[in-house]
Amino acid sequence: MWRPPQRIKWYPTPGAWPDAREAAQSALFAPLRHRALAVENRTWVPAMVPWRATNEGFVTPANIEWYARFARGRPGAIVLEATGIRDVPSGPLLRIGDDRFIEGLSAIARAVHEASEGQTRLFIQLIDFLSIRRRPDPRKFIERFLPIGPHHREALGLPRDVDEATVRMQLASLDEAALKAVLLTREFEALRYGDRERVTDTHLRHVAELPQVLPTLFAAAARRAREAGFDGVELHYAHAYTMASFLSAHNSRSDGYGGARENRVRLPLEVYQAVRAAVGDDYVVGCRYLADECIEGGNTLEDTPFFGVSFARAGMDFVSLSRGGKFDDAKQPRIGDAAYPYTGPSGYECMPQYISDEQGPFGRNDKAASVIRDAIRAAGFETPVVVAGGVFDFRRAESLIATGTADIVALARQSLADPDWSVKVRSGHGSEVRLCEYTNYCEALDQHHEVVTCQLWDRTHLDESGIARTPDGKRRLTPPAWSGLASKA
Ligand SMILES: Cc1cc2nc3c(=O)[nH]c(=O)nc-3n(C[C@H](O)[C@H](O)[C@H](O)COP(=O)(O)O)c2cc1C
Ligand code: SF4
Repeated sequence: MWRPPQRIKWYPTPGAWPDAREAAQSALFAPLRHRALAVENRTWVPAMVPWRATNEGFVTPANIEWYARFARGRPGAIVLEATGIRDVPSGPLLRIGDDRFIEGLSAIARAVHEASEGQTRLFIQLIDFLSIRRRPDPRKFIERFLPIGPHHREALGLPRDVDEATVRMQLASLDEAALKAVLLTREFEALRYGDRERVTDTHLRHVAELPQVLPTLFAAAARRAREAGFDGVELHYAHAYTMASFLSAHNSRSDGYGGARENRVRLPLEVYQAVRAAVGDDYVVGCRYLADECIEGGNTLEDTPFFGVSFARAGMDFVSLSRGGKFDDAKQPRIGDAAYPYTGPSGYECMPQYISDEQGPFGRNDKAASVIRDAIRAAGFETPVVVAGGVFDFRRAESLIATGTADIVALARQSLADPDWSVKVRSGHGSEVRLCEYTNYCEALDQHHEVVTCQLWDRTHLDESGIARTPDGKRRLTPPAWSGLASKA
């Protein structure tokens, strides 16, 4: 992962933890109601893919236990990991693109509601993404995959009717600098990173038709989520995926769905409306989007408050803010690997780690969240705003709400490090919280689609009877139970 050149090391230093009385009176542990959203407290576990599904996208017992484990910590809400809305092979990513997935997903919903004794709401993040290929072996790319066109013959100074094999042979003899001059920008990028579709590839029929296809797909997925017993859906409009690419300042589609920000937000709103029509007004529908894309020429606070106000006006039950996480500045992957959108500076903004700059890894999205929330309030809407980014301690979480920066605080890696954060802090046992060190060991596992665990607990009490482990037997899949839970909670 990219890290800021300053290389300043930061460590979590929580202020004083509250006692149970202070916690009970805090803004953080106060309930929140808005439209269909009703949470018992303002702590939220945002979506995190833990790579526990089957290769066909079905729920496994490890998925069920993973979410039940979070639910025992009684956060106000958990958002189930990004779950694919299409019925297409997607590797070990959870899927909701067909009714056959409902049964497994409903087992998670039951487990979460039982384990939290009804205290934790469960939402599911619905995702669509475009195709991305692995970085090819350069030889194979030139010899087999690259479609040869007249522009190659021209750039190489070859006659128009020369055969394809000769063109490929000439290309194969060039070094990378020479290839850069001969290949189109997209071809050169496909060679260096692997081919990646964009929402602007409207010459491809399935990309041109996204505005016609996606509302129906999202709506069907949301209907299944409701049937499976989830309390709501979070539309994934963030990071490097299809819907975020529609919102992006880089979206130059000329079919009314790109260009001006009013056009870029059009499909996200149409998807929302289709989802709302499918699930009704009494069901939670919100979205996660980027307060800042953190890339050159990307969305900044110039555009993103406008999106927040548009979502609020449309009637969303919450907006959740992330930042960065784009392909545009991702590192070149190794041959045979796919690019990963969290490896460049924008990836750092999304999941900042402890080696940082003067600003440090904590609270990098707070200012943007505050501006967006203010814009939503100024437009006359009470839509709750969820903020994430480096929250590990009560004092900061509380001040985010008390100062009106956000209405709900999402703790991702801190919840991974200690899923009992909420119950420990609320019961006056904050000093027993296992603090996240923001090393991004978990994120590295995610990058390689390996079962995600936390280095603070995955080798602890490996001899405990009956614990589930990774296939190599070296890591436990969930953290040990908090021994104080039964007596202290
Ligand atoms: C292992 C891992 C998987 C993640 N998967 C998702 C995801 O599926 N959807 C999403 O919107 N964000 C995902 N994120 C980003 C987090 O939700 C969160 O925005 C980010 O980690 C910053 O919050 P934090 O500092 O509290 O960890 C993931 C993060 C991690 C560490
Ligand atoms: S591995 Fe654990 S300590 Fe390290 S960043 Fe992830 S959750 Fe935090």
